[in-house]
Amino acid sequence: MMQIARTIEEVRAFVRDARSKSLTVGFVPTMGYFHEGHLSLMRQAGEQCDLVVVSLFVNPTQFAPSEDLTAYPRDFDHDCQMAEGVGVDLMFAPAAAEIYPAGYQTTVTVDTVSMPMEGIFRPSHFSGVASVVCKLFNIVQPDKAFFGMKDYQQLKVIQRMVADLNMQVDVVACPTVREQQGLAMSSRNTYLSDEQKETALVISWALAQAKDRAEANPETDPEQLRADVQNVIKSEPGVVSIDYVTICHPEMLTPIDSFSQGAVICVACRVGKTRLIDNIVIYSSH
Ligand code: PAJ
Repeated sequence: MMQIARTIEEVRAFVRDARSKSLTVGFVPTMGYFHEGHLSLMRQAGEQCDLVVVSLFVNPTQFAPSEDLTAYPRDFDHDCQMAEGVGVDLMFAPAAAEIYPAGYQTTVTVDTVSMPMEGIFRPSHFSGVASVVCKLFNIVQPDKAFFGMKDYQQLKVIQRMVADLNMQVDVVACPTVREQQGLAMSSRNTYLSDEQKETALVISWALAQAKDRAEANPETDPEQLRADVQNVIKSEPGVVSIDYVTICHPEMLTPIDSFSQGAVICVACRVGKTRLIDNIVIYSSH
């Protein structure tokens, strides 16, 4: 049976008990409305750890006032069924006041890797993410924490925070789970009509094509490839705007002028009113 905890104290009691039995704890932080991407993280946690703790908290501090905090999709009962189905042991679903009680005033800011891409279009997003993940790590104190590569820059921000602040947790990067035709799974895909889902396929197709080109010919000019990806995405009329198409160093997220150290291509664009992100990692063949 999966347990549900609403308070930090309940989580601490659960983890104390696990520790007393020398059981390892895997942790998957989420904002709920689960899909196969979330479930794949939970399954990997179950394979690598004795117990799996999932947090479900739509963190207000990572949404700007203009963003979709109130509209963010929620279905707690269905989420609990899905999590239980993949063997989650504890679901931590706190109220906002449990995480941010009156008087709360501390934030964690990760500098350089937070700055490009999402950092430009969502300036306070990653300090909201880093702060809540830091708090959740302190609450759960997991051995391993599982993050999806779907949110590639978020993964790099968390890895940097863990290294810089000497947090005792292994961050495990999990591959992006996609729909059959390639669309990266996201809770926000629920905002898309069928037609918009078709439109959105251009993103994963353009990325896959670019990866093939770069890996077939490592001499490819990153800026040329970047411009080509942008043009392919722009040519789809249903894409109403592109926030960025960036090719950068896979760890530092800094600009590159060759593929010799590998790369990641990251995209953010809008299909209708829905903002979608995706990325693909390119390995160096040298
Ligand atoms: P959320 O968007 O719910 O995502 C929770 C985790 O699932 C993240 O690590 C994310 O990268 C992963 N994920 C989402 N879609 C995925 C996919 N298609 N394939 C693989 N993994 C996928 O990311 C957040 O919540 C929040 O920012 C959070 C870290 C919980 C902090 O509030």
